Amino acid sequence: MTKRPKKPLEDVWTQIGQGLYRKVFSLQNNPDWVVKLELDGPTPHNNMMEFAVWTACEFYDPGKHWLAPCREIYNEGRILVQRKVETPPDDFEWPERVPNWLTDLKKQNFGLLDGRLVSCDYGCDLPLAKGISKRMKKAEWWDERKRVK
Ligand SMILES: Nc1ncnc2c1ncn2[C@@H]1O[C@H](COP(=O)(O)OP(=O)(O)OP(=O)(O)O)[C@@H](O)[C@H]1O
Ligand SMILES: [Mg+2]
Repeated sequence: MTKRPKKPLEDVWTQIGQGLYRKVFSLQNNPDWVVKLELDGPTPHNNMMEFAVWTACEFYDPGKHWLAPCREIYNEGRILVQRKVETPPDDFEWPERVPNWLTDLKKQNFGLLDGRLVSCDYGCDLPLAKGISKRMKKAEWWDERKRVK
């Protein structure tokens, strides 16, 4: 019998993020994509919803430019493959206006993809319920790191 290595996946993926609902891993052999693993959190189906929102937006210009593209979903939504985004630099100028269907404007939910700001956490049903319109709103950005506890 072959012995299993102690940490079998460390050479395949590295954890780069964690939220209330998902753990996020970057892939060692493909730096363009991340895997988002749904946890048993207070609300299920975040991966499923994110994939559904992407599917509704991917051919729609103003919509798709604000979202990190999703590629595949497996295991009833437990595993989502999404484009990897980069953390904006400290001196990044956050836009004053964003589409009105973007919900949680926590800075940690956004990143840069080819130099463009996109959301990487949009797994809620509001965009679909509200409709992906062209309307913009004033952005109320907030920073998780600066939250008073
Ligand atoms: N596509 C991505 N590329 C790079 N990093 C990502 C990506 N998606 C998520 N992350 C990182 O992982 C963290 C957690 O992911 P995400 O916000 O999607 O999980 P969540 O459980 O829905 O979070 P929350 O607690 O904010 O609701 C993000 O704050 C971000 O730092
Ligand atoms: Mg988040």
